Amino acid sequence: MIQQPIIRCSNTAKDLPQFLQTLSYDGLFVLTDDNTKQFCLPCIEAIPEIQTAKKFHIPAGDEHKNLQTLSSVLEFLSQNGANRKSLLINLGGGMLTDLGGFAASVFKRGIRFINIPTTLLGAVDAAIGGKTGVNFNGLKNEIGVFAPAVAVLIDSNFFRTLDRTNLLSGYAEMLKHALLDSPSALNRILHFNLENIDYQQLNDLLFESVLVKEQIVEKDPAEQGIRKALNLGHTFGHAFESLSHELKRPVPHGYAVAWGLVCELFLSFVKFGFDKKILSKIIYFVKENYGVFPFSCNQYERLYELMQHDKKNETENINFTLLRAAGEVEINQTADRKEIDEVLDFYLF
Ligand code: GLY
Repeated sequence: MIQQPIIRCSNTAKDLPQFLQTLSYDGLFVLTDDNTKQFCLPCIEAIPEIQTAKKFHIPAGDEHKNLQTLSSVLEFLSQNGANRKSLLINLGGGMLTDLGGFAASVFKRGIRFINIPTTLLGAVDAAIGGKTGVNFNGLKNEIGVFAPAVAVLIDSNFFRTLDRTNLLSGYAEMLKHALLDSPSALNRILHFNLENIDYQQLNDLLFESVLVKEQIVEKDPAEQGIRKALNLGHTFGHAFESLSHELKRPVPHGYAVAWGLVCELFLSFVKFGFDKKILSKIIYFVKENYGVFPFSCNQYERLYELMQHDKKNETENINFTLLRAAGEVEINQTADRKEIDEVLDFYLF
């Protein structure tokens, strides 16, 4: 997979036209959702190329990340004369860049696209790394392809207006990247003041975090090996997230990841002697900022079933990425039902 350049923007209204001038394309298309149409499109609307571009918006929310919405985007491209040389700009969070990237990569067997993430979660994770797709049959990202954007333009000005929940959701993926990176990166993430945010400092941490993901994806774009490191916290995390949807009290993705990190670092302590003091620091940080996931022993069975259905499993065993220490990753680890119950006991009590 070709690498996708990540462009650090200080003002997308200036940086986007400069980047567009480096490309040759026939027809420019912009995809937004209900929210980004209202709050983010105005930031780039004055650009002459954007004024003449064909624009389409889809409903916001993960429940619309499906084949029906994908079909509406393809119909829009088709009816507005998009061809192989056209360019699609995806302006939005992870749902939009995943879906828009997928639409672009299958339309006429693939047209180019640019991602402009408008959430911290999107910038640090979904918009980079070339994963595209939609949910299907009740399963997240069940259909999709690996397809890199021609560029990802990250402008942290978009994140200044994010509410605390959305900001923290993205920050959990930054915590994950720091854990994969090094003790010093972890220290920086744990000591950043989330109460009184210094956006310049957040921006520096964000790009440090993006680099961690970029370097992993560069080594293994199709997730055959080391890219599985990025699943740290996600085996328990996805099960918590799915359970929260089943119980009709959905939690944001990053919150589920933060709770999943606590569980998987405890498993790392049990299996690889991950430092107990650092584990305690992370538990404190997660409890302070994300609270705890509310569930009971009655839900162990369902959580276990949800982990069994995880598409990351290659055998009937449940697959984990664990850590010996910050920066020392062990992929392809498994745990049995008894070990998983012990982790859940630890989490609850
Ligand atoms: N979100 C994990 C990955 O991109 O591989």
